[in-house]
Amino acid sequence: MKEHEIVDDLNLAYLEEARGKKAQGKDVPAEAGEDFKLIGQPTARIDGRLIVTGRAKFTNDLTLMNMLHAKILRSPFASAEIVSMDLSQAQNLPGVKAVIKLKEGRVKYEGEQVAAVAAISEKTAEEALQLIKVDYKILPHVVRPEKAVEEGAPQIHDSANVEKFNEYSRGDVDKGFAEAEVVLERTYKTAVEIHQTAETHASIAKLDEDRLTVWDSTQAAFSVRDGLARTLGIPTSKVRVIKTYMGGGFGSKLGLNEHTVVAARLAKETGRPVKIVLNRRENSLCVGNRPSTSITIKGGAKKDGTLVCLSMKNYTCGGVGRGDRCSEPLIDIYKCPNVKVEEYTVYTNTGASRPTRAPGHVQGTFALEGFLDELADELGLDPLELRRKNYSSANQGETGIPYSSKGLNKCYELGAAKIGWERRNKKPGEGGGKIRRGLGVASQIWWGAGVPGTLADIKIHRDGSVEVICGTQDIGCGTRTYIATIAAETLGLKPEDIAVKIGDTVYPWAPSSGGSQTTPSVAPAVRDAALKAAERLKQLVSTTLNIPASRIVLAGKKLFDKENPDVSVTFQDAAKELRREAVFHGERSDLPAGFAYNSFGAHFAEVEVDTETGQIRVAKVVAVHDVGRVINRLTAESQVVGGITQGVSTALFEERLIDDNTGQMVNPNLQGYKISTSMDIPEIVPIFVDLIDPRINNLGTKGLGEPPRIPISAAVANAVYNAIGIHLREIPMTPDKVLKALQGKEANS
Ligand code: MOS
Repeated sequence: MKEHEIVDDLNLAYLEEARGKKAQGKDVPAEAGEDFKLIGQPTARIDGRLIVTGRAKFTNDLTLMNMLHAKILRSPFASAEIVSMDLSQAQNLPGVKAVIKLKEGRVKYEGEQVAAVAAISEKTAEEALQLIKVDYKILPHVVRPEKAVEEGAPQIHDSANVEKFNEYSRGDVDKGFAEAEVVLERTYKTAVEIHQTAETHASIAKLDEDRLTVWDSTQAAFSVRDGLARTLGIPTSKVRVIKTYMGGGFGSKLGLNEHTVVAARLAKETGRPVKIVLNRRENSLCVGNRPSTSITIKGGAKKDGTLVCLSMKNYTCGGVGRGDRCSEPLIDIYKCPNVKVEEYTVYTNTGASRPTRAPGHVQGTFALEGFLDELADELGLDPLELRRKNYSSANQGETGIPYSSKGLNKCYELGAAKIGWERRNKKPGEGGGKIRRGLGVASQIWWGAGVPGTLADIKIHRDGSVEVICGTQDIGCGTRTYIATIAAETLGLKPEDIAVKIGDTVYPWAPSSGGSQTTPSVAPAVRDAALKAAERLKQLVSTTLNIPASRIVLAGKKLFDKENPDVSVTFQDAAKELRREAVFHGERSDLPAGFAYNSFGAHFAEVEVDTETGQIRVAKVVAVHDVGRVINRLTAESQVVGGITQGVSTALFEERLIDDNTGQMVNPNLQGYKISTSMDIPEIVPIFVDLIDPRINNLGTKGLGEPPRIPISAAVANAVYNAIGIHLREIPMTPDKVLKALQGKEANS
């Protein structure tokens, strides 16, 4: 497979999973009216102390006996032919145990892997890289999508540099435009973003006879296992992947990585465990990015704001990989009878894209929600009223089926009240002074239904101690804590009484942690296992106490008669009745057919624009989300804070810069690549619409990983529009762009 096909595969599998695989099967209503004591409360992380004191082990903290260190030599050129490669000097360096060739022929981007070394120390491995002699013939490159589409541009793959990869239509847009009373056309652009995970990628591979064990900083232990088995030709049964603690992934760690395969190959070659840790530069060049976009929306409405047609053309660039599908928000979120979408990917000589926290939705929402604000101004309507006017209660895409639940109207209502929506400029830019203030809103839709078939076990020992065992991974969001909380709630224990064992492919299967699907997959499976355990204990105790099982309640580490609470046995004594350690298997059930499963939200942003320096300060964000039942209010709020921090970063700072002449990235580090710091984070008010989804799973909970990342950049841009009366249609909205826009406005007035 070619690089871009591998990425395509990853992206498609990702979308399918995020949507909630194959909605079918029996109805599994969430238990309504449940009187939870722990679920829904703010619960501190059970491993918080371990993490903040530096004792939690990340992959890079692990050292195995006889372990070697690997480094990868990467192409410094965006496009070149490898004429020859001489490994002998590197092989002869004392301390070097293996040198392997990874590439022949053409390299297509800066950072593409060429050769690798395993040595007794990182320093020796680095020295050895210098001794590998590669003779390159430099070829013409193209790194900008605007140039890649030109006639005669250097060709990246065997096919053309521009490829249509998605189209969609409903109704008749031409008829719609004829009926529209107001028509507007605008183009919005977003930059390439890098996944700046706190912890860079790291893998350790160890081979025992024919069994491979890999420790990996991954969002997807099971996919890495399956990928390694496929790539190396080993049966899946002989591969084990372990994931310990992790410092973020955001999509860049959502599949098998090339460097992990290199570690495994070097382990085989040397007969010793091999560790590889990527540096910030490698992180910037070759393990993914969020594709850039140039999205043109043409839309029409009646004078009262009723949308009659929307058309969208997207040119998106994911380097040697594919760009992002960005049309889903436009297709689904508002009622509109006539819609047409065409999406094109543009290939360039830059590293391949990967899913990046809410792939496509971030860029598509920036365009759509910006367009709606410009349309509202044209119509003389309140932007929030325009959104409410076109509210839909059924999925607008292919299916047309109702949403399992949708609390977006409630999000609008709560958010508008909290931010003080009436304080906005009635006409964009009407305020005066050096510092202009403005308010903006943007809506969000996402999937995150969870994956049916996710498994979790509960093991109760004879001493009354309890384990929850699930192969899922905690990528930093607090998975261990809600697993403990759900088990404790159901068994009448405390979260700290539960030993949580996760992050290992020898444990029961769970899906990748991407697409906001971990909680709606894992939480219901744990709940199912815990309910089965509770049921069994009730039956046993019902005999001992001679009362019906239906009267027994588990709470306060006891099982007691709810009609006569003095009649009880301790949880520990009840566990003895199991006679031996007992395992209860839980499974996340199927999704009932006939419904669309989506999460919703609305962000309200308040900004200040300094008209002298061009600087934008985001002062406050009210973020209201409908994610079904909130399991842990504390970590849920953390997700929202994280999403907004990243979204403000996207709106104001983040941009991969590539030198046109050399084809090389000029900011592959955290000095030149700007991200939000604590000084840039606004006051954030997370609010949840507590609307328990009656159908989605036994807890009524939806995913929250991506939603708070989606509307924020658009809400900030709309607030800037409200402040200065100019819609900046390109992010990041750096001070130079703001000043240029203000000067242009002055010149025109
Ligand atoms: Mo993701 S892009 O849900 O890791």
